[in-house]
Amino acid sequence: MTAYDYPTARLVDEAGIDLVLVGDSLGMVVLGYENTLPVTLDEMLHHTRAVARALRRSFLVADMPYGSYHASARDAVRNGLRLLKEAGAQAVKIEGGCSRAKLVRRLTDAEVPVVAHIGLTPQSVHSMGGYNVQGNSLEAYEQLLADARALQDAGAIAIVLEGIPRELASAITAHSSIPTIGIGAGPDCDGQILVFHDLFNLTFSPPAKFARQYADGASFFRTALTQYRDDVAARRFPSDAESYHLSREVHAAVEAAHPRARKA
Ligand code: KIV
Repeated sequence: MTAYDYPTARLVDEAGIDLVLVGDSLGMVVLGYENTLPVTLDEMLHHTRAVARALRRSFLVADMPYGSYHASARDAVRNGLRLLKEAGAQAVKIEGGCSRAKLVRRLTDAEVPVVAHIGLTPQSVHSMGGYNVQGNSLEAYEQLLADARALQDAGAIAIVLEGIPRELASAITAHSSIPTIGIGAGPDCDGQILVFHDLFNLTFSPPAKFARQYADGASFFRTALTQYRDDVAARRFPSDAESYHLSREVHAAVEAAHPRARKA
């Protein structure tokens, strides 16, 4: 599961989910950006720290945001180390195929474990021409098989497969010695990942085909918020039982000192 803050990370951890990803989906589902590209390293550090404080057993992975590993390997290693050292991540995730293999090796050599991410890679939204399913031609199929192999050989500890046909995810999983984690990649991956806000209908946009809603969080919160607003307006909240009271002695002293302090 993804998580981005202390309470949701606690819930995910307590539910016994093995891995928590502070995804750069943060930008869209929490910060209200149009896509993941504006997310900064500082934002990832801030949210990863909050999640790290909540976890007792889940493995914590943090996304390296767009621009934090693209300019140079030196920058990438420095930024990856910050996510581990300053925020408590146990691994970082980077997007891209064969062209990232050298960088995966550099990060791994610097003791920064890397989860790779191929297929539909949201940081490439402009070069992909949108959020389209990938790997749907023989050439693209073979390229993604080669990507997975190159990333594994470079030292990636796991690989996220996003938005690819089930058959391709199944073939990559069969050929990989590292775990595959699917999102929109069918049931044959070693594990699955979903965005917290997709699971609970909290994205304010139509769900993707693969995003099963397990609960309607939006309706749950709307109902409670409307009740709260109505209770305050009708002076049903707070009740006397939800109020603090002076002790008997102080009450008597106040009555004596301020006999007309109470409204008529
Ligand atoms: O940012 C994210 O939430 C992700 C998952 C969709 C895998 O990368």
